[in-house]
Amino acid sequence: MTWKTKTDSYPEVRETELQQLVRDHSSILGSIGHTPLLKIRNIPIPNDRVHIYAKAEWFNPGGSIKDRPALHMLLEAENSGTLTKGKIIIDATSGNTGIAYAMIGSALGYKVTLALPSNASPERKQVLRAYGAEILETSALTGTDGAQQAVKEIVAAHPEQYFYPDQYNNPANWRAHYTTTAWEIWNQSSKRITHFVAGLGTTGTFIGTSRRLKECDPSILCISFGPDSPLHGLEGLKHLPTALVPGIYDPALADNHVTVSTDEAYGMARQLAREEGMFVGISSGAALAASLRIASEIESGVIVTIFPDGGARYSSEHFWNEHE
Ligand SMILES: Cc1ncc(COP(=O)(O)O)c(C=O)c1O
Repeated sequence: MTWKTKTDSYPEVRETELQQLVRDHSSILGSIGHTPLLKIRNIPIPNDRVHIYAKAEWFNPGGSIKDRPALHMLLEAENSGTLTKGKIIIDATSGNTGIAYAMIGSALGYKVTLALPSNASPERKQVLRAYGAEILETSALTGTDGAQQAVKEIVAAHPEQYFYPDQYNNPANWRAHYTTTAWEIWNQSSKRITHFVAGLGTTGTFIGTSRRLKECDPSILCISFGPDSPLHGLEGLKHLPTALVPGIYDPALADNHVTVSTDEAYGMARQLAREEGMFVGISSGAALAASLRIASEIESGVIVTIFPDGGARYSSEHFWNEHE
């Protein structure tokens, strides 16, 4: 008698090309995640019984945390058959998710079209073009909401040509963080994390990571943060009270929410570059500002936050050259 192989009996368990590449560490896609957890050592923390660590997400091959959800959304779509060869990946993104799609699309042979507000940083647009993506510029006045609307119209007109991951409403976005980011933080902090602090953009990072961390230890407090006004310079983050609220958002997961001003974030990003050797983006500066606020309010603990991307993406900003 000849035994059938597992894949003969269960065709649905046969790995897709994408799944094989994700497990292969010699593939660019296999190098997504597993980022370092770095301790803040030099910037004064108001309480010496509190330690702050940051997940260094600019170590991802696409340069940001967005490699994780982009990969998961494409993996789940290939598995369900909604993404098939020949389709164009299209989405609205303030930049980092677009770069992640463009990088993964290039590695897998998918075309990528991205709608983004015309005021997105020139460095980001340049990177997107380098990966071969097509850019569709929408009005700066309507921000990412306007870019989302443009994509919806294109997809509605030609549904058979496009795959629209819709990161604001796709549960694979938060599941990426549930299965990878949270698990890494739990292990890298040797299960000592007491507080998790993250900014809200699509909200995927905060929702997925908090959901899993609370399952690991229900006493972990999860604190979200956002810009203090609708007009802000914290690229990637949303002022939720005045923006379209993402469908994946779940306010019940937040034990607290704090706001950060653009100037505070600039100051912290500058300090991280000059005092910690961490050249990070503006939302990382905001993450440290929010974490320091929490540190001043608690007696002791281990705060873990996220530094979503690196500073090179914002190198044309003037604040880097200013003095305190
Ligand atoms: C630089 C930056 N920071 C923070 C975020 C927020 O992450 P999330 O979309 O998971 O809420 C993003 C998202 O695009 C981002 O690009």
